[in-house]
Amino acid sequence: MKVLVATGSKYGATREVGRAIAEELVALGFDVDCEDACDVKTVRYYDAIVLGSAVYGGLWRRDASGLLRDNLELLKDRALWMFSVGMTSVTEPGQPLDEAEQLAIDAGAHEHYRFDGRLDLELLNFGEKALIRAIKPPVGDFRDFNAVKAWAQRVGADLMALATD
Ligand SMILES: Cc1cc2nc3c(=O)[nH]c(=O)nc-3n(C[C@H](O)[C@H](O)[C@H](O)COP(=O)(O)O)c2cc1C
Repeated sequence: MKVLVATGSKYGATREVGRAIAEELVALGFDVDCEDACDVKTVRYYDAIVLGSAVYGGLWRRDASGLLRDNLELLKDRALWMFSVGMTSVTEPGQPLDEAEQLAIDAGAHEHYRFDGRLDLELLNFGEKALIRAIKPPVGDFRDFNAVKAWAQRVGADLMALATD
């Protein structure tokens, strides 16, 4: 079974989560491509897609949401899992509600899962730093790779069940 793991990531935290998911699926015996969402032209050649994105201002990165929207018809015939990587402590007043939940409904995803992310002030641009200083969320790396692996194993088990249906 051919699986695509694709991510939209600005500062690399989500890309690393995607890689950990891909490694776990490879260990389970799947044939996996792991790509940045911006490098994926089509999902046509895959049986299943695991698509994730960092969340900024309540929105997915445009390369990940664009990949999903551009492939909505193809995705309806394929198994799709989605994950968001974010820090719920970083929310601005009036920002859009969670975009990914609606995307997951539109695309018929099996699941949309949330992982805690990483906030590294050194990496941020001037405007982002100003925003973070105003909100004062906890900073650091809150990613739990055991939780990521556990989720990937669940996805793998569901995929195996689908394959034998
Ligand atoms: C300016 C800014 C805005 C953010 N907005 C949100 C948000 O609305 N919701 C959320 O859950 N996380 C938010 N985050 C946290 C990021 O999603 C988190 O840092 C994530 O791990 C970044 O992943 P990346 O390194 O792959 O880009 C924000 C972070 C920054 C710097």
